[in-house]
Amino acid sequence: MKQVCIVGASGKLGKYMVQHALDWGYEVVGVCRERSVGKLDAFRGRITVIPGATNDAQVIKKAVAGCDGVLTVLVPWGVHHYASGTAQAVLDHAQPGARLIFSCGWHITRDGQDLYPQSFRREEKLARWLGRLTRMVDIDDQVEACRRVFASDTRWTVVRGSDLEEGESQGLPVWSRHVGDPILESNITRRVDFALFMVAALENDELVHEAPAIVGCQTPSALAVKARG
Ligand SMILES: NC(=O)c1ccc[n+]([C@@H]2O[C@H](COP(=O)([O-])OP(=O)(O)OC[C@H]3O[C@@H](n4cnc5c(N)ncnc54)[C@H](OP(=O)(O)O)[C@@H]3O)[C@@H](O)[C@H]2O)c1
Repeated sequence: MKQVCIVGASGKLGKYMVQHALDWGYEVVGVCRERSVGKLDAFRGRITVIPGATNDAQVIKKAVAGCDGVLTVLVPWGVHHYASGTAQAVLDHAQPGARLIFSCGWHITRDGQDLYPQSFRREEKLARWLGRLTRMVDIDDQVEACRRVFASDTRWTVVRGSDLEEGESQGLPVWSRHVGDPILESNITRRVDFALFMVAALENDELVHEAPAIVGCQTPSALAVKARG
């Protein structure tokens, strides 16, 4: 794999992914909103930036041309089907056989087998309610985006992030197919390591057609499971 596209490159997760992808020796094409191009100044001369809305099919078509992998940040912004439009544009225009990695949170379920803590359900309910009220967040559209990815015959992986924190890398997160697995109990991952998992997934065929829920490898729950062997 030589060239990868990062859709949503100027955000916090996106910038970490850009850095990891460069470290791994990939040529990087980044897509971000026109107003956010300056957030990528630190990478000037080392990446190609395509400005535009990530749900604009023409922008995505141009950006993913020739890319063997596409890393897409799916965010439930606004009420204009931004996440589902972004996912659809990537699904429609990525080159055949490309590895497609999408980010989302634990709240996305692929098969309904996830067991969520009460506190998590309460927070999600509140986020949905506030999102509808302010018309700034549309979680259902992120759900729809992932439904389309799961239904596609592309080589996808949907990485489901736990709560996130900043800080130095602790290494590649561990994962499980289902929230509720004891290994995930700590529910915290460094954002830099979420990005690492996304980039590492590009070359991990075991993750094709998986929706790994991740947690930091140094968290108490991950270490406890490791200690038990
Ligand atoms: N935050 C968490 O605690 C958390 C927990 C679990 C999973 N996740 C997942 O992690 C991923 C990254 O989330 P993050 O919270 O860390 O955010 P982030 O990386 O900062 O990404 C936010 C993205 O949304 C874009 N954006 C912001 N406002 C927008 C708007 N009004 N219209 C269109 N795009 C807009 C940003 O682009 P600009 O640079 O142009 O502003 C950026 O690409 C997401 O897939 C999320 O579901 C997050």
